[in-house]
Amino acid sequence: MNQWPSWLPLRQDLQELSPYGAPQLPAEAVMNTNENPYAPSKTLAKAIAARISEIALMLNRYPDRDAVVLRTKLSQFINAQSSTKFDAKNIWAANGSNEIIQSLFMAFGAGTALGFTPSYSMHPLIAKVTQVPWVNGSRREDFSLDVDSAIAQIQRVKPTLTFITTPNNPTGSAITIDEIEKIAKSTPGLLVVDEAYAEFSNEKSAASLIKKYPHVVVIRTMSKAFAFAGVRLGYLVADPAVTDAMFLVRLPYHLSSLTQAAAEVALDFQDELLGTVAQLRTDRDRVAVQLGELGLTVIPSSSNFLLFSGFDMPSGQLWQAMLDRGVLIRDVGLLGYLRVTIGNEAENSKFISTLTACLGEK
Ligand SMILES: Cc1ncc(COP(=O)(O)O)c(C=O)c1O
Repeated sequence: MNQWPSWLPLRQDLQELSPYGAPQLPAEAVMNTNENPYAPSKTLAKAIAARISEIALMLNRYPDRDAVVLRTKLSQFINAQSSTKFDAKNIWAANGSNEIIQSLFMAFGAGTALGFTPSYSMHPLIAKVTQVPWVNGSRREDFSLDVDSAIAQIQRVKPTLTFITTPNNPTGSAITIDEIEKIAKSTPGLLVVDEAYAEFSNEKSAASLIKKYPHVVVIRTMSKAFAFAGVRLGYLVADPAVTDAMFLVRLPYHLSSLTQAAAEVALDFQDELLGTVAQLRTDRDRVAVQLGELGLTVIPSSSNFLLFSGFDMPSGQLWQAMLDRGVLIRDVGLLGYLRVTIGNEAENSKFISTLTACLGEK
């Protein structure tokens, strides 16, 4: 724990925290943060550069505070994917979906928040930083979500914010739209469905439920399937009452002109950017089979990563042995488990051959 100087008026509840973040270490195969391994094409890079050089001539001015063009484009993207009829009023955009999550806590953290662990660890962490009481709900022993138990937990806690992550991180498993609807029917407050990995899944998006259940909020990001993590663009899809509340908690001009412009161009290139999703899904399934052939157990994944177990050494030791050989994967803090993000063909091969070597050496 950091020893803070006594003169520093840091909040007591923050003093025990360590900064969150996966290690950013040099490695031949970086497979630890669930990014898409395929970089934008030169054509897309040139289109972004051309748009940015136009915007650069106006950088003396603040950006469009309400990001209307971008939010309109995002609504069209969601409509095409989910056969919905949203417009800019249904969308809120921010610097990554982490900022979206933070804004939700700031606006709606009047009561308790509930999520089902293991899940995305930033949900409880942002709750803590925004001083919203958080309850760790439970899953089955195999980490799948027992919907009836989840509903019972929701009815016991009566949260103002309930988080469901599907596909879930770090497990990769998804629940069906019927299950989400069942949960929505019994959820007070807002039901926040974090769909950071939705494009990798065959399940229907919860965006399709919003018209019937206005308390359902869907979080999406351009950081994963969309192969645009460096830009930091996350968004939510919701009833306009939810987006209206976002205007109250956002910082003025929170989304820079450069971010808005780059994201708008990326949406024009969505076919290219999402064009690798099919490949990543095929590769995910192949790597899962290869892990099975090594005698390991893999949780069936609807995402671009795999959580595996069954190795005969502490997770931290295997993680380090892999890193020593140039493969950076993720120790998610679950005893006996490690998570790997699906990479390109060379990275996946390197991962399997390195893991084979490490397991043989113990
Ligand atoms: C479930 C989930 N939600 C949200 C995020 C945050 O993504 P970003 O802030 O890059 O949009 C992540 C990133 O790993 C995630 O796994």
